[in-house]
Amino acid sequence: MKVLAILYKGGQSAKEEPRLLGTIENKLGLEEWLKGLGHELVVLAGGTSDDLYPRCRYLTRDLIEKAKNLKLCITAGVGSDHVDLNAAVDHRIQVLEVSGSNVVSVAEHVVMSILLLVRNFVPAHEMIERGDWQVSDIARNAFDLEGKVVGTIGAGRIGYRVLQRLKPFDCKELLYYDYAPLPPAAAEAVGARKVDDLKEFVSQCDVVTVNCPLHEGTRGLVNAELLKHFKKGAWLVNTARGAICDKDDVAAAVKSGQLNGYAGDVWNVQPAPRDHVWRTVKNPLGAGNGMVPHYSGTTLDAQARYAAGTRSILENYLNGKPQEAQNIIVGLGKYETKAYGQR
Ligand code: NAI
Repeated sequence: MKVLAILYKGGQSAKEEPRLLGTIENKLGLEEWLKGLGHELVVLAGGTSDDLYPRCRYLTRDLIEKAKNLKLCITAGVGSDHVDLNAAVDHRIQVLEVSGSNVVSVAEHVVMSILLLVRNFVPAHEMIERGDWQVSDIARNAFDLEGKVVGTIGAGRIGYRVLQRLKPFDCKELLYYDYAPLPPAAAEAVGARKVDDLKEFVSQCDVVTVNCPLHEGTRGLVNAELLKHFKKGAWLVNTARGAICDKDDVAAAVKSGQLNGYAGDVWNVQPAPRDHVWRTVKNPLGAGNGMVPHYSGTTLDAQARYAAGTRSILENYLNGKPQEAQNIIVGLGKYETKAYGQR
């Protein structure tokens, strides 16, 4: 069997740090094991401007139709939007991910991003590095999270963990927007209220965090039309997928102050071009940007879990054993998850 792994280039860091498993250098720790079983592992670079990357990073319908031997697509992590899932259904190609492998990693990053925006942390630190000290320039736009309304679009594994982690902050309210209601006991445990209408939902939130998958129903969901309904000066955090938020509309909202800030690690194009507006956009006070490269779900702890999970999916496949139900996005000829839109 031939296994093609599209991983990111780790460079010197991957040579020095073998726990960077998700890199072309360290190959998810799969090479020796697969070789020992007589299989071949081919590794291509993703996450760089490598020529092959744009061709392979997205498994379009066209590519799927050309890949006559393709049987199984695995995301070493969570989020299968890089596969045309409808085409996978049509061609009976299974799509799996290592569900849950990095959801705590992302949820922690979300809480950090909310705090750094609300507390105006980034410009405060930059001021210190510059050698300046003007407390009022920072404090004029610094707030407590206590007493604010925070809402998540998507209350699945990550969204729910964000709500759990926010509970001790004594927010005024925790809200969620999701077509799948939380089990009553889970909602009660965090004190979260479901809001069924998206515009009404965002209009009540001081902070909105995006935690749903990217699919036909969420691409461009946060656009100029929806941003008009946000509270003026709300904060937006997106660690789900860049394309859920409209690049230019979000940038314009930060620039005008309609949003007080935007933070996250996902971009509509990855790697983000040098001149991508999200790298540098600021609110009218020169702050409100908490963007980082896509790493929230790639901590060393997460890499250990998703590398082990990828191996376990391959093992099941090779041994003809059933896959864990929670990992199956597309089974043979049908969606097995309800998270990629209401069908
Ligand atoms: P999950 O499947 O446990 O939860 C997703 C939730 O979103 C479900 O409850 C689903 O009903 C809901 N949803 C789907 N469409 C929606 C819509 N139109 N409006 C509102 N809610 C909707 O998935 P999990 O583990 O929480 O991950 C969510 C996403 O986070 C992934 O699909 C991936 O795109 C992203 N992610 C990002 C990472 C990063 O490194 N930045 C790492 C891991 C995941």
